[in-house]
Amino acid sequence: MPNIIVVGTQWGDEGKGKIVHLLAKDADVIVRYQGGANAGHTVIDHRAQYTFHMIPSGILHPGKTCILGNGMVIDPAALLEEIELLESQQIPVRENFLISHRAHLILPYHRAIERANEKLKGPRRIGTTGRGIGPSYADKMGRTGIRMCDLLDPTGFRKILEANLAEMNLLFNRLYDAESMDLEKIFETYCGYGERLKSHVVDISLLINDLIDRSKTVLFEGAQGTHLDVDHGTYPFVTSSSSTAGGACTGTGVGPTRINEVIGVTKAYTTRVGSGPFPTELLGDAGNGLKTRGNEFGATTGRPRRCGWYDAVAVKYAVRVNGLSSLAVTKLDVLDGEPEIKLCTSYLYDGKHYTDMPLNEAIINSCEPVYEVLEGWETPTSGATLYQELPEPAKRFIERVEVLAGCKVDIVSTGSRENETIIIRNPLVTEKQ
Ligand code: IMP
Repeated sequence: MPNIIVVGTQWGDEGKGKIVHLLAKDADVIVRYQGGANAGHTVIDHRAQYTFHMIPSGILHPGKTCILGNGMVIDPAALLEEIELLESQQIPVRENFLISHRAHLILPYHRAIERANEKLKGPRRIGTTGRGIGPSYADKMGRTGIRMCDLLDPTGFRKILEANLAEMNLLFNRLYDAESMDLEKIFETYCGYGERLKSHVVDISLLINDLIDRSKTVLFEGAQGTHLDVDHGTYPFVTSSSSTAGGACTGTGVGPTRINEVIGVTKAYTTRVGSGPFPTELLGDAGNGLKTRGNEFGATTGRPRRCGWYDAVAVKYAVRVNGLSSLAVTKLDVLDGEPEIKLCTSYLYDGKHYTDMPLNEAIINSCEPVYEVLEGWETPTSGATLYQELPEPAKRFIERVEVLAGCKVDIVSTGSRENETIIIRNPLVTEKQ
């Protein structure tokens, strides 16, 4: 059976949650490979509405193994809260849920450092989600991180925590003018989390590779989006992890030769939360229609998302850096009723047209988006389940998305519910066996 990666092609919030949930039906294992509780998505199935931050939404399908990969940074308090909330909605999370022993932890000092740092940065602040993601990844790379496996060895855990906290408290006192953090309190609290989570902690690389050997299907779930990737995104206005397809391998311990396809989820327009360049942004009232109709408010922070037209330059870049095999276009219905639909085909800067993403932040910041204007459609696409049902202008939009991206569209989402979807080809049940 094919193993696939699902990634976002824009700045996150493309509707990956719904697509992953849909594809998860035909997968055996769903694994998140990067990020942490900075992600957030809502899934509506026939029973209720559920909000996810870390746990793959595949958990809603009985019997699927859901895994948090080693590439993630896990806040155990937030994770336990998420488990409890889902359990209160009658989802038996603990029966099918595993965590990599190599996943890094978020500690209270990570959140505190992030808050202080963002404040210090002033206008150059990233506009982070405030979940301690960046500082935890910084510790991982600085080789002072604390991992899930450390939590299961209280003596070792205490030693690393003691050393880290000594440094952190110096920073708090001398640089940030903040209170010291108490070692005993953090140690006790985190040992408690360790006790509650330890039965889920395993070597996921061993497990997933073994499952692939036994012809099981694995779905690698990316969080955030291509342009928030720490290497390939609009640096420094990015998250701190590898949200592109390559992250799926390092974030799980599964080699690239074991993965068959990469699906890029792309919204029919563009949104972005937090600071950073956004060439097709519609400022002021212009973006409000999309914001309201698309309900563009963050599932994690509740922040309103910045909205703008579809950016084909950004998506073409995502096709390249992820090696996408196909696209899933979401929220087509949000464009219903627009008299005309715009797609940005190049960026104009200093008299030069850029059809490939420029590397220079100044160009992305100050370029003028050049648009191709398509006729809108009056017949609603909302809830459509067959491609033939779409009005002709909507089909033309999808066709232009394909041509400009150089990648075919397999799935079109026409509403937030599971069944409001057009599946042209299901990458998990066709071909590549
Ligand atoms: P961090 O991931 O909290 O460090 O935030 C870094 C940047 O990524 C900020 O601009 C956030 O708004 C953005 N970001 C992080 N996670 C998401 C997400 O799931 N969707 C959209 N934007 C995100």
